[in-house]
Amino acid sequence: MRKYKQLLLANKAWSFELKDESPDFFSRQVAGQKPDFLWIGCSDSRVSPEQMTMTPPGGMFIHRNIANLVNDDDMNLMSVLQYAVDVLEVKHVILCGHHGCGGIKAALSGGAPAGPVDDWLGNARAVYHAHTSEIESVADDDARVNRFVEVNVRDQLVRLARTSIVQNRWASGGQLVLHGWVYDLRDGLLKPLLDLDPSKPLDEVKAPERVLV
Ligand code: CO
Repeated sequence: MRKYKQLLLANKAWSFELKDESPDFFSRQVAGQKPDFLWIGCSDSRVSPEQMTMTPPGGMFIHRNIANLVNDDDMNLMSVLQYAVDVLEVKHVILCGHHGCGGIKAALSGGAPAGPVDDWLGNARAVYHAHTSEIESVADDDARVNRFVEVNVRDQLVRLARTSIVQNRWASGGQLVLHGWVYDLRDGLLKPLLDLDPSKPLDEVKAPERVLV
């Protein structure tokens, strides 16, 4: 059987199984969504936010891009963030990097060919330039990529905290915590790096402890 047809077959099995377990599952889905979480992660096919957190449909609003980067002129991410925070009123935003991220590797080595990917990674190269000594202090090649992944999560989380959407939410007393995590491909575990909330001055957010070791 052609592989794409297996997707449709698997989908039928999934739908039948859910209806069998919970006959009103899909009618509840139609009624609306009220997720608790916004997930911002990498597009990498190995990093599957709902599967690895056992989150059912309706539990998570999701945005993914290469290397989980935050640009405040990115209309895609900013509209997702605005809708999640202002309309869905999520209480937690999780920004998640991952072990061995190809985007981060390319930003470190200049390995992306000219084109949209290379343009997109400009943000990650800026993170490298801001923290060159921290990243280059790691001798092993793979470990250096993983340190860059961690430092990148920190910087992107601070960028997220500085957006007007998050700042307005915090200024109005709304409950919203930003979480920076990494996913370790080697053991399937999510490893927290840092949290941001209104009590933490953004100018004083230190480089996180190493967890991808
Ligand atoms: Co990646």
